[in-house]
Amino acid sequence: MPYPNISVYDIQNIDQIKSPGMLVFRDLVEHNLNEMIRLAGSPQRLRPHCKTHKIREIIEMEMGLGITRHKCATIAEAEMLADAGVEDILLAYQLVGPNLKRMADLIDKHPSKKFACLVDCPAAVNQLSAAMRAENATRQVGVLLDLDSGMNRTGISIGQDAIELYEMILSTEGLELGGLHWYDGHHRQPDLDQRIGNVTAGWNQLIRFRDQLLLNGLKVPRIVTAGTGSFSILAETGEPDLELSPGTTVFHDDDMATRFPELNLFPSLGILTRVVSCNRDDHLTLDVGHKSCAADQPFGRRLAFPQLGSFENNDFQEVIHSEEHLVIKTPHADKFKLGDTLVAIPRHACPVSAVHQFANVISGGQWVGQWDVAARDRVLTV
Ligand SMILES: Cc1ncc(COP(=O)(O)O)c(C=O)c1O
Repeated sequence: MPYPNISVYDIQNIDQIKSPGMLVFRDLVEHNLNEMIRLAGSPQRLRPHCKTHKIREIIEMEMGLGITRHKCATIAEAEMLADAGVEDILLAYQLVGPNLKRMADLIDKHPSKKFACLVDCPAAVNQLSAAMRAENATRQVGVLLDLDSGMNRTGISIGQDAIELYEMILSTEGLELGGLHWYDGHHRQPDLDQRIGNVTAGWNQLIRFRDQLLLNGLKVPRIVTAGTGSFSILAETGEPDLELSPGTTVFHDDDMATRFPELNLFPSLGILTRVVSCNRDDHLTLDVGHKSCAADQPFGRRLAFPQLGSFENNDFQEVIHSEEHLVIKTPHADKFKLGDTLVAIPRHACPVSAVHQFANVISGGQWVGQWDVAARDRVLTV
């Protein structure tokens, strides 16, 4: 069920909204958060990733639902989380260069909060420890061992070197052993049985490794794992120390909605666009260029227009995408005139928040205000 009744994307006071403008359908965000909690089993089993939205008010909604642990990818996001009142923050990244000192500064700024990050090699352990001890300080940062789940992006492979690195974290000053990190975001197969098989095979490997650490007398306080395609599958394992970290689910874009129709989640992020030229038959030119949406997706399928119909039925087709224009070919073009609006649903939600200063909040079919995309900037104060 990729889309709800499309009337949820109707906005009565649409004239108030500048285009191109990021839209957050708050009622759908609320639905998605409740569904994430239901699938995870409880709010304590979630550690949602905030990179998708970067918005403080959404963190407040999550905290209001009992979600206390949060994940992020940048120092600015970590600072936004701390400013929003989150007590337990995992920066799921291996820190290098000036970001090591920025983490130390963040800990100094929020000494009562729990911060953690990832490592996948001995040099990272040493550099992080040095940053925690700099200027004769006695800071502590949580450290999770980042394991390569087969995604081949970051992480150490399961094996003896990984055990030794885990032991090294335990014995290194300034670091507190935080457990294991296993992001298996490459399991995106639309075939549910195939995905369950792949996710479970990875999970069994991880659990064998975890059990080996326990046999060696090491503690594994938590396993942080999963994205949109795997979190509901891993929730079924019943593992008690599991923290599931989907992120896209909050906005649930067109890609995830069509790939994972078994999830009862709906796209809650849109981009308001207007017709800026309509002189050619069967064509509309819209003000949603690639500077206002996610352009990491291949040209041809960057945006969906549920109010026009579906991509599969040829209700719209992307023809030209430049910085401030999108030309679409659509058999419905004659129903539109200059200045008319459409809600575009991004194929990939997460990069959209990085290119908008604020989100227009829609609730009950009305524009009700705006939220700053607080962690859009790379640097807040540290
Ligand atoms: C380390 C990490 N954890 C969690 C997530 C969230 O995954 P998803 O976007 O599939 O929900 C991501 C997404 O990129 C990630 O990189």
